[in-house]
Amino acid sequence: MSRLAIEGGKPVREERIPIAQPVIGDEEIRAVEEVLRSGQLAQGPRVEEFERRFAEYVGTEHCVATSSGTTALQLALEAAGIGAGDLVIVPSFTFIATANVALHAGAEVAFVDIDLETYCLDPASLEELLRSLERERRLTPRRVAVIPVHLYGHPADMRPILELAEEYDLLVIEDAAQAHGAEYRGDRVGALGDAGCFSFYPTKNMTTGEGGAITTDDEDLAEAAAMLRSHGERERYDHVELGYNYRMTDIAAAIGLEQLKRLDELNRRRRKNARFYIRELSDLEPEIRLPRERSWAKHVYHQFTIRLDPDALECTRDEFAEALRAEGVDCAVHYPRPLHRQPVYLKRGYHTASLPNSELAARTVLSIPVHPGLSREDLEDVVRAVEKVVTAYSS
Ligand SMILES: Cc1ncc(COP(=O)(O)O)c(C=O)c1O
Repeated sequence: MSRLAIEGGKPVREERIPIAQPVIGDEEIRAVEEVLRSGQLAQGPRVEEFERRFAEYVGTEHCVATSSGTTALQLALEAAGIGAGDLVIVPSFTFIATANVALHAGAEVAFVDIDLETYCLDPASLEELLRSLERERRLTPRRVAVIPVHLYGHPADMRPILELAEEYDLLVIEDAAQAHGAEYRGDRVGALGDAGCFSFYPTKNMTTGEGGAITTDDEDLAEAAAMLRSHGERERYDHVELGYNYRMTDIAAAIGLEQLKRLDELNRRRRKNARFYIRELSDLEPEIRLPRERSWAKHVYHQFTIRLDPDALECTRDEFAEALRAEGVDCAVHYPRPLHRQPVYLKRGYHTASLPNSELAARTVLSIPVHPGLSREDLEDVVRAVEKVVTAYSS
């Protein structure tokens, strides 16, 4: 095997393959132009249509479009009545927005661990936390919510989570920011809990530039979220709640309507790319651990995230990532620190006991490009680069 590019060898390719790349076509450009020419730029008929179509796609009665995934989560919690003194349970291994929205709502956060196969909330860890809170009589009189995250595009194991929710009267808000079109036992995510929250940030499986959405069958929750989205306004200048401006624009919704038409095809390409990697890279286990799709899941591969085995590789993750980038393959760590170890929580007095799976994942995961813009040649170059780096560092 040739020398690594970081050691002066010839790279697999000169131009770097990006870790993410939105697919924007003439349709999106024309749709935006039409909105710009219409003069109706802020929330209007395009947002309404987008809400209708996105609810239909997910399989819920209602959809409330928002300015981001973060504001969707915050509005969903607040619309469901979560506030000061309440408790919100989140997996520690996720993007920080999942937990921060609970703090913004005035609630307390409790962190639970993940399952290392799916990287999603581990129902056993949730059960353990609930039993101990029950013993300590800390579950009542307040309300308790749980936010399972469908991380990297793989659904969380919702059945046991929903059973615990039933037993303990938990509100379930799905964080589906990374999982548009993913399925759990045949149902689309975002339609499984009390509400689902999506992000349409440009790296996501579909985009609106910036944007988000809440999906729900609960009419009261949808109405409350829509009102909070617009300064708690019931009628023009009649403000009955303390709300925000978290609206989506018609420009964003016009992009979203076109992206929604493409979503299944974009996901099909992500799944095909992932299958190629799984076939071509499986010989490299156990040095690297490949993602798995559980039998009950349809994974939409927002990320293709491998886990490095520190005992089988003579390099740090940073060295591995640098070597891969030098070969012409971008990569990223989602996420390098579990939330229970983030300074913003430590300085608020959160001292969570060890959550070993979240800590291990944060130390060892690395995402490689899987987006739908990759050509066959790109995929082959990624495989060659990963093989080269693993071989060079194998102990
Ligand atoms: C799991 C998760 N939750 C929430 C968010 C927040 O979404 P946004 O960036 O649109 O605010 C993201 C986006 O990165 C995410 O990945």
